[in-house]
Amino acid sequence: MVPVHPYFFWQLSLPAVALEGLISRHSPVRNRIALSVVVVQNPRPPAAVPHANFVTILHVSACHVLEGKVAIITGAASGIGEAAAKLFAENGAFVVIADIQDELGHQVVASIGPEKSSYFHCNVRDERQVEETVAYAIQKYGTLDIMFSNAAITGPIGSILEMDMDGFDDTIATNFRGPASTIKHAARAMVEKQVRGSIICTGSVSSTLGGSGPPAYTASKHAVLGLVRSAADDLGQYGIRVNCVSPFAVATRMSTGMYNVDASIVEASASSFSQLKGIILKPRHVAEAALFLASDESAYVTGHNLAVDGGVSVLSTTRSRLRK
Ligand SMILES: NC(=O)c1ccc[n+]([C@@H]2O[C@H](COP(=O)([O-])OP(=O)(O)OC[C@H]3O[C@@H](n4cnc5c(N)ncnc54)[C@H](O)[C@@H]3O)[C@@H](O)[C@H]2O)c1
Repeated sequence: MVPVHPYFFWQLSLPAVALEGLISRHSPVRNRIALSVVVVQNPRPPAAVPHANFVTILHVSACHVLEGKVAIITGAASGIGEAAAKLFAENGAFVVIADIQDELGHQVVASIGPEKSSYFHCNVRDERQVEETVAYAIQKYGTLDIMFSNAAITGPIGSILEMDMDGFDDTIATNFRGPASTIKHAARAMVEKQVRGSIICTGSVSSTLGGSGPPAYTASKHAVLGLVRSAADDLGQYGIRVNCVSPFAVATRMSTGMYNVDASIVEASASSFSQLKGIILKPRHVAEAALFLASDESAYVTGHNLAVDGGVSVLSTTRSRLRK
């Protein structure tokens, strides 16, 4: 037990206040700040506190939940993937931004910093490129701990009566075949390196609810959830966890582009459907859920579909409508 003197608290209060301001400016890490205090022998006790035998050294360290981990995020040049890349890096991870939009991908690296991130061109439809992306991460950072398989497209948006079957194939190739090969190659690397890794796929409310997206998209997202559950079953023996994070409508290039509307329209529409009022779903909220699944804080969670949807996929609006 370290003896604690009143002078200890006096010393502690000032820096703590200053640090509080600092932490507030970096709110993403606010809840993960760990304060550790080391008390050492005071070589020169101040006259005002003659009995002080100790001075304090206040160490403040952001307790980064992904410290030193290596992550690949597909579709990280934009939207939810971009938000996750920033959040994962803030939490100590090295992040490979894997996407087909090279210019945007490099901009994300520039915003994070090249010491914590790098860009690699990866079209998830092409298994060879996925394999090369995994090899790149391992060659650059030495291992692979996290695969966030997030890239997707909307696909054809009309009714199934007019569905363009080439568009359907495109959607399945990106949204379903893509995650299948990213899980496959990430898991192979993790098994080989004996890493108890975390694989996360971005699903959607459309993973469990018909009518919440266009037919091909909805089919592909239902398939992703089945794939996640199946892979979780396969990979549990290696200590590898596989989960889904499933958002409701969030304003990104995908959702605004689908109907060619502003972000505010997507957000107003999503808010009107959600039972959870007073909050607007942002990419960062989805990234926070992915961070939980990526970190050891979810060490016993696998095969799970973590909905980030304000309750939309499980709450009926019937009662609230009847009340009106
Ligand atoms: N935005 C929403 O309302 C919403 C809702 C539920 C689920 N989602 C899911 O979230 C994920 C991210 O979407 P977003 O909303 O951030 O959209 P976004 O368009 O901003 O980002 C998608 C990214 O995927 C990339 N991409 C597309 N095809 C690719 C390919 N073949 N190979 C590699 N990268 C490719 C794009 O270049 C883009 O950077 C998707 O899986 C999407 O289905 C989005």
